[in-house]
Parts: sequence; structure tokens; C-alpha cells
Amino acid sequence: MEDIRRGMIPAHIYNDKEIFEREKATVFSRSWLFVAHESEVPQAGDYVVRRVLEDSFIISRDSKGGIRAMFNMCLHRGMQVCRAEMGNASNFRCPYHGWSYRNDGRIIGLPFHEEAYGGEEGFKKKGQTLLPAPNLDSYNGMIFINMDPNAESLSDYLGDFKFYLDYYTKQSESGLEVRGPQRWRVKANWKIGAENFAGDMYHTPQTHTSVVEIGLFREPKAEKRKDGATYWAGPGGGTTYKLPDGTFDERMQYVGYTAEMTDRAKEVWSDEQQRVIGADGFMISAASVFPNLSFVHNWPKVEDGDDVLPFISIRLWQPISENETEVLSFFAVDRSAPEEFKKKSYKAYLMCFGSTGMFEQDDVENWVSLTNTSAGSMARRLLLNSRMGLLEDGTRVSDELTADEFHGPGTAQVGYNEANQRKLLEMWADYLEKPALEVGPTSVGTDNPDGIRPLTPTNGSCDHSKDATVNGAVLA
Ligand code: FES
Ligand SMILES: [Fe+2]
Repeated sequence: MEDIRRGMIPAHIYNDKEIFEREKATVFSRSWLFVAHESEVPQAGDYVVRRVLEDSFIISRDSKGGIRAMFNMCLHRGMQVCRAEMGNASNFRCPYHGWSYRNDGRIIGLPFHEEAYGGEEGFKKKGQTLLPAPNLDSYNGMIFINMDPNAESLSDYLGDFKFYLDYYTKQSESGLEVRGPQRWRVKANWKIGAENFAGDMYHTPQTHTSVVEIGLFREPKAEKRKDGATYWAGPGGGTTYKLPDGTFDERMQYVGYTAEMTDRAKEVWSDEQQRVIGADGFMISAASVFPNLSFVHNWPKVEDGDDVLPFISIRLWQPISENETEVLSFFAVDRSAPEEFKKKSYKAYLMCFGSTGMFEQDDVENWVSLTNTSAGSMARRLLLNSRMGLLEDGTRVSDELTADEFHGPGTAQVGYNEANQRKLLEMWADYLEKPALEVGPTSVGTDNPDGIRPLTPTNGSCDHSKDATVNGAVLA
């Protein structure tokens, strides 16, 4: 762990069974984990099924509009209650013996209740629910689960990173809508993607040469990434692009936002949030929040000509094992954006990321190779150098930006460095050193006559129940 804290990373952490077991018991049992976005379940009865490692959860909007997250395991003999990945249902019936549950978690049907259990007297089904997620909260409609019932609040956990999260997830009063996710598996350790999105501007000129060469971007040189800043705040950090001179409006339009969209962003972004773009000239790009949630914001050319179109993608690196990861890739767009913008933005996303994305293909090749090479005995001897941006004695190669140069919270610096990858792994080391979470069987109650506690909606101010077209439109 000392090596990690000075930026020298034991290579085997990217493919080590014991470490993965430790991660499950410490990292993933204590941190807040993204599972779904509220806009995926816009209407009463909508649900999606999502995993947190080996645990399956149903995220549903109940018939009264409340959003719940419940452990997808029958209280009777443990069958997975809901087998579909997404859909609309007023209740879920277990395929094994037919117990059924309302979409707020309550048991509502139990075959032969009278004959087999002596009815309500002999076995009280009233008030019993599927197990609720141990801890549940949302920010800008992004639903997170924490396996620790006593975890700090999501808001405290996200801390200063919320400032940056708004750029991706709240571009207007009406909030966000997402499509997907596309879902596929890669033979790579989950940490590699998270590190890459947190701060690896350095790989772009090398890994993505061909994408730049075919003219997908307006900027002729991939090296331009070094002019951007990387920032770190709270449990996450990311990268930015340096924009040409201009006002906030001009710079938003430079990356392809319409004047109306820019105006709507001004209504919800604070002065400081606008200053990062307008005064400092940095446009947010990729980012990661500890442990395994990432974002990307980019603006390729979708059609011939010089026009660019911005897109946003939310991505989850869901670990399967020490050397396999399921990638969940969502397309995200401002709910009030014009239809034409949504269409083109989606096209831009598909060209770059997602299962067909050109960047995606380039990246995965590296990540799989790194994972394979980490498995052997030689990897146990190698400390990888992740000290970019630091001199031998630990001082920085380039200075931290001042509050006048960068108006966001946390720390920021210009140029290639591995500060964010080090931060992410430092947090990882801190979690790994915590004791494993132990929770007794009584800490989650199933005695609730009103079903599982609903979540307070946080995705914008419009009436989501009227929106029926968001979910399931795309590859699932
Ligand atoms: S296991 Fe679900 S009804 Fe028996
Ligand atoms: Fe990449």
C-alpha cells in the first residue's frame, strides 16, 4: 500500500483473485454504487433489473410513482423473482412456487396460504416485503445503492464532485434522459477503465491516432489534450479540453450546443460552474467517480463539414471477476434538447463509444492486454510507474491552477499527469484497508405495511410520468 501511495503500482492488482475478494468485502460493500437513472423508469410499473456484483436488484416505479430498489430474491426459497431485464409490471410473481410481490415490494399473493400455512394467523404475509436495498439515494436522478446500511449520505459521499456531475447530468431544469444501456463483457479488470476515464489524457495521441486521422474531430492534433486541465474533487476527478477564446455562450456553441440549450444550462449551472467554461476556457470531458462510475463528454463531427455534435455517456464498470468486467454504457441527453439534437448526439455517441464505438475498440485492446500480462509471476515483481507529473522528489512538474485560473472546487493542473489515477488508487487502498463489512440478518427489516421506502425523485422538475418514450428504445 505504501508503494501505491507514492505512485508505484504493483502490477498484479489488475488480475489477482485474492485482491478481488478483498475488493468485494471492502470497496464494493462500503461505497456508493450507481445502478440506474430515474428516467429509465418513467412510468408507473416500469422497472429495470441491475446487479451490484453478484446481487440482483429490481429498481421499479410503483403504481403510485415512488421509486424502490429491492433485492431480487424470493423470501420463500430464494429464487430470482424477476427474470426480465426491464419491463412494466404491477407485480412480480416468483417462477418457483408462485409467491407474488407488488411493485413496491409487498407480498401480495401466496398460493394455498390457508391450506399450507394456516392463513394469516399461521403465517403473516401482511407487511412483509422483498429486502430493500441496504441504502439508497439519488442525485440528479442518478440512483445509487450502498450495501452498508450505515453509510454516509450520498450527498456527503459525492461532496465537491457534485459540481462536476451537474455538467453531465443536469443541463436544464427538466433533467436528463438516458438510453440503453448497451451491455457487454470485456476480459479486463474493472479498475483499468475507471483509471483511464479519470485522467488518462496521455493515451489519446497514441491509442486513438487512427480516429483522429480520419477526421472525426475538428482539432487536427490529438496532442491538444495536453493543453487541458485535470481536476480532482471529492471521490472523483476528470479531464477537460482547453477551448479557444470566447464567452461562455460562444464556447458552449463551439462544442455544438444550441443557443437555447446554452440558455437553459445557464439557468441551472452556478456562476462558478459557468466560469470554468466561460472564463477559464475548460470544457469538461471524461471523468470517474470512485469506484467504478465514469462519464464521457465529447464533440465529434457526425457529418461532413465542420459542425460538431456533443454527446454524453454514463458508464459503469461492473466487475465480474478479477479479470472480467461487464460494461454498461448509457447514452445521456438533456430532456429538453431538440429532437434533432438528440438524434445527432446519439449518432455521435455510437460512433465514438458503446459496443460499436471506435474509441471503445482502441481502448479495450489495451485493457485486455494489461489484464493478461498482470496475471503471471513476473507481474508480481513489477511496480508500474504511475508518477507522471511528479519529479523524483515528489514536487509537481507543473503548478496547481489558482482559484482565478480554475473556478471549480478541488485541485486542478494543466498538462499530462497521472494525479487522478493516483488519487483513485489511493482511495482504493484506503478502502482495502478498512475492515470487511459485517451486517447481521436483522439489519434490514421486512416488516413494512407500505412497502419499501420510496426514493424522492431528483431528476429535474418536469412531470416524468407523462414521458413514455425514454426507455427501451435502443439496444438492451
Ligand atoms: S422460491 Fe419463490 S415462491 Fe418458492
Ligand atoms: Fe481512450
